Amino acid sequence: MEIVERGWNDFWAVVFRVKHRRSIPGIHEYDRMVVDFCVEVLGLKEGDEVLDIACGAGDHSILLAKRGMKVTAFDIAESLIRVALEGAAEEGVEVDFYTGDMREINFVQRFKGAVMLSHSFGFFDHEENMRVLEGAYNALLEGGSLLLDLMNPYNLPRFQKTWTRLDGGYLLSEPHVIDAPAGMLRGRPATFIDTEGDRIVLANEDALSNNDIRMYTALEIRAMLEDVGFKRVEFYGANKLPRTPYTARSERMVVVATR
Ligand SMILES: C[S@@+](CC[C@H](N)C(=O)[O-])C[C@H]1O[C@@H](n2cnc3c(N)ncnc32)[C@H](O)[C@@H]1O
Repeated sequence: MEIVERGWNDFWAVVFRVKHRRSIPGIHEYDRMVVDFCVEVLGLKEGDEVLDIACGAGDHSILLAKRGMKVTAFDIAESLIRVALEGAAEEGVEVDFYTGDMREINFVQRFKGAVMLSHSFGFFDHEENMRVLEGAYNALLEGGSLLLDLMNPYNLPRFQKTWTRLDGGYLLSEPHVIDAPAGMLRGRPATFIDTEGDRIVLANEDALSNNDIRMYTALEIRAMLEDVGFKRVEFYGANKLPRTPYTARSERMVVVATR
């Protein structure tokens, strides 16, 4: 068996964000509930423009478009944007998908809502994380809101080592490690046993670049959002309806910041 190393865009993005994600039982129902929540808390109406930041394979963007929103969505992984475009065509909706970096958002006062779903925030150093929030703020209309769907730093999921049978082989995921002094959640390289290609696939440096996630507390994130200019910041304890208050035991920390 050959051993090879692959990057995020050229291999792992599709393994994690398409094959693995879509193998999770109930994921479509879960996505629908998340989108219902976004529509309600962001006060979205048919025809409103929405920005899906780090959209992955576009599952939420497509559902938002099916609800009548005009959706623009991007991800760093071109491989995921290809899957997203195919998905939109299959569902018969138009979404303006493109490949892009969240540190370079340069829309000006265009969107009623912006979303960052499945904990897609905190991948960089503090200055760059702030740059992401600034870009999102600038992209919103006055009165528009940004929704950050984050893990709750006081109630993190129980990370476990798992083997998952996927299309073409087996994925071994290693549990994240909490680096408490740094306030970071550190991801560890996964392994894919490619039974079709008779090879073992390891992660190269590029695949690991977004593995470390800064876990901000509610107070920190509020201060950051207020620093970039958001006027109102609210917290919820789940990413589904009905709205629940955010507590230390909540399953998520969902932040809604309004310009
Ligand atoms: C946890 S996934 C969430 C994907 C999607 N929002 C969802 O809920 O399924 C995080 C996503 O962030 C993307 N990403 C990582 N760094 C990025 C960057 N600098 N700019 C844009 N997207 C990025 C990854 O490719 C990945 O698809």
